[in-house]
Amino acid sequence: MDQKTIKEAFQSRYGDPKLVVRSPGRVNLIGEHTDYNLGFVLPAAVDKEIIFALAPSADDQAQLHAVDLNDQIGFDPQNFSKSEKNWANYGLGVVDQLRQRGYTIPPFNCAFGGNIPQGAGMSSSAALECGLALGINELFDLGIDKIELVKLAQKAENEFVGMNCGIMDQFASVFGKARQALKLDCRSLEYQYYPAEIAGYKIVLFNSGVKHSLVDSEYNVRRSQCEEGVAILQQQGEEIESLRDVTLAMLNKYQDKLSPIVYQRCAYIVRENQRVEDACQALANQDLATFGQKLYESQQGMQQEYEITVPETEFLVDQTRNEPAVLGGRQMGGGFGGCTINLIEESAIDRTANQLAQTYKESFSLDLEVYIADIVNGTETMDNVR
Ligand code: GLA
Repeated sequence: MDQKTIKEAFQSRYGDPKLVVRSPGRVNLIGEHTDYNLGFVLPAAVDKEIIFALAPSADDQAQLHAVDLNDQIGFDPQNFSKSEKNWANYGLGVVDQLRQRGYTIPPFNCAFGGNIPQGAGMSSSAALECGLALGINELFDLGIDKIELVKLAQKAENEFVGMNCGIMDQFASVFGKARQALKLDCRSLEYQYYPAEIAGYKIVLFNSGVKHSLVDSEYNVRRSQCEEGVAILQQQGEEIESLRDVTLAMLNKYQDKLSPIVYQRCAYIVRENQRVEDACQALANQDLATFGQKLYESQQGMQQEYEITVPETEFLVDQTRNEPAVLGGRQMGGGFGGCTINLIEESAIDRTANQLAQTYKESFSLDLEVYIADIVNGTETMDNVR
């Protein structure tokens, strides 16, 4: 779904758009489930995106038109509640956040659509929230800065959609930068870019096609296990605010106070934060072998300690271990399916992907989808509105 299609869809219903916005999905190189523990993540915005066409409306209703789904909703921006249409709540949640912050949003029309695969762990929901938030901000000159847009997009998902996500996806969608990965400190929200386009290598995603129904509930279970660990350490007198402040030595000191599961979950987070630091250092040194190794270590942690992998994604990663052209790989995103992210030598991508698709089909009767991810800029308006 390209810019032209979205603009035409808009024009056929509402006339000329005043503004066109693009908002990308994201990959996460490393740092999984660390965001809500106020640790480090290393995502990047990628060339799978949602395009929005917008204009103010003379009607008393706002219209959101999902071009891919051929579906739409009309609502009064001053007075609406949760929709039965799941997709609509990501947009309504954004308007709700603006309203809660005291903005009066006039009626507007918006048509949107894109090519971010659903359920693949590439954050199509964050792209939708961030694109609409930036679009409304520009359309009505609200003057909200980028960091506030990120925060309100995250809150829209937490409060309106009811998914208790961290800040990584929205931050990556808005602050992404071409050819760079973004190391974000989720406690201070300080960030730093690392060159992530590496000559001869590409980021390749293998979509397992598995969308685990447990992802939302298990996500929240992991969150509360981490919170339980923090609460117990605080009861022991440790002055900590989150797992970010915890070391392995501290965890080991109180191991007998923590249940084995809570210990395991906390140990994963502490180690994963360290892996993000190590991976960034490796990128800075252009040491791709170490970088790839960190991806495999992250996978092992997610599989054995955090227990968020599934046989399909484990298989997809394991199959690459003896392939020298693959430097590293791991399951990406919230867990229980979705894509694996791999760093692969460019000349070997086709061969590796074809072999893997075949063995994957033989083992799980599932088709493998392959995406080569190019790193692009974050959410922005597009100039050439005609
Ligand atoms: C989902 C959430 C993010 C993050 C990841 C796991 O994508 O939306 O906030 O927690 O899972 O790293």
